[in-house]
Amino acid sequence: MMFLKTNVVIEPLVSGWYAWSHLISPATAAMNVTKRQMEIMNSYIDSPENHQEAVKDPAMLGGPFMDYPCDRSADVRALLENSIENQNDLIQLSFAIKKLDKLLKSHPRGLSLEGLYEKVPEILRGYVELVYDSNNNVSFRLFEELLYESEFYNSSSQSIALWITNNDSRPFSLSTPKLKEENVIHLPIAFNSKKIDVLAKMKREARSMNDVEQLLGIEKKDLELFRSFFTEKAPERYEKYTGDKIRMRYFGHACIFIETKDISILIDPLISYYGYPSEVHHFSDYDLPDTIDYVLITHNHQDHILFETLLPLRHKLKNIVVPRSGGGAIQDPKLKLMFNKIGFENVIEIDEMESLKMKDCIITGVPFTGEHSDLDIKAKTCYHVDIGNFSLLFTADSRVLEPKLYQNVHKIIGDVDVIFLGMECDGAPLTWLYGPLMFENISRENDQSRTLSGCDRDSGMHLVDMFNPSEVYVYAMGQEPWCEFISSLKYTSESIPIVESNKLVEECNSRGLIAERLFGEKEILYSKKG
Ligand SMILES: [Fe+2]
Repeated sequence: MMFLKTNVVIEPLVSGWYAWSHLISPATAAMNVTKRQMEIMNSYIDSPENHQEAVKDPAMLGGPFMDYPCDRSADVRALLENSIENQNDLIQLSFAIKKLDKLLKSHPRGLSLEGLYEKVPEILRGYVELVYDSNNNVSFRLFEELLYESEFYNSSSQSIALWITNNDSRPFSLSTPKLKEENVIHLPIAFNSKKIDVLAKMKREARSMNDVEQLLGIEKKDLELFRSFFTEKAPERYEKYTGDKIRMRYFGHACIFIETKDISILIDPLISYYGYPSEVHHFSDYDLPDTIDYVLITHNHQDHILFETLLPLRHKLKNIVVPRSGGGAIQDPKLKLMFNKIGFENVIEIDEMESLKMKDCIITGVPFTGEHSDLDIKAKTCYHVDIGNFSLLFTADSRVLEPKLYQNVHKIIGDVDVIFLGMECDGAPLTWLYGPLMFENISRENDQSRTLSGCDRDSGMHLVDMFNPSEVYVYAMGQEPWCEFISSLKYTSESIPIVESNKLVEECNSRGLIAERLFGEKEILYSKKG
């Protein structure tokens, strides 16, 4: 009977690329295949040297460059050919969406859209409604539920890569696909497969190797490597918190675990690994109980929804709370639907100012503004968590654009005891994340003006002024070494987010508040007031 080692990565992939949410929902996946992945692959094949040079430059971190130590152009070419063959449906979908956009733009503004349906590209017919907003701007809304049931959602392109990690260094995941390597086993397992749960459970529950080898269909040539992922050594037991207080543990980036003797809540899960030397102290999945009552997801960015963390945790999760998404706009795919399709049951959508009430605990969705390049995206929420009348406000990357918004929120939820706010205030430009979903060329000026920025000192202080917390924690800075592969952030003491968050912490301290920028790990116990 064997356990899965603590540092085995169960890495979900879609057609060989690191799986993130925009590769699951069919329309965003289509656009990312043609306008991100294929462009990067072609560019790499043209000049692997350029990519090798670019990734040496820290300023290029997070750029469209593949990060391999040697020339992998033959493998990248094979991946591209495979993509052209096996993702043809998505490629055609992206062309059809672009054609539809052109069709809509050529239509006389304000004139009925009824006659246009028969001109919609054939493969998109029956999947879109054509709509005007009240300014006569024409657009389309996707019937996402139907797209997931069509040829445009193909779970056979999903797989998992199994490998052992011995450090936190990984290439930027949105730009570098996972190619075949000696130490990696690729398994053609769709994300909704229960096999992932069985494997992930083995980090805590021993199982016979024979069983798991058969279940996962491990090939003979991979057996030796596969067996090296397991150990007879049982992990230390997790000690559930049984005291009367509220225990808060910071796991890095925006990931926080709250536990009382009655309830457990995990926010924006991004969990690191154990089992190798690390200079930064950190909690890991061994510091999570066997069941988690609620996972709260704040927004649809790749550093806040990590399938690499969520799929192995799936068997432990009783409920996942996600922000309610918009009405079929391409840039705002439905999170609940996406999670359902990849095998998560018990997904709850929460709306702005809507509350989930449990014994002793109320979770409320609070408006999240900004950090989405001014795109009409509703899949974002802050969370107010009230446990025993002690309240915590998690604002993630929300940027205060209009202080009066939070004045209005304050009228309803009142003061809070603790605020966690993200201050990544020098965010990437619009096209970095949303470029593949944009139909028009974006000028450099516009691109740079519409960033994915969180709060700076002044907007952060609006929150402090408004909610009168006694403790303020800056988090979600993507600074921990195990986050770099997904956040592509590496700060120095001169970086604007560090300078701005230092100012905010100093200002709070000068007012007598407890304030700190979190890094690595932190544990705090709070007393209930009720
Ligand atoms: Fe974000």
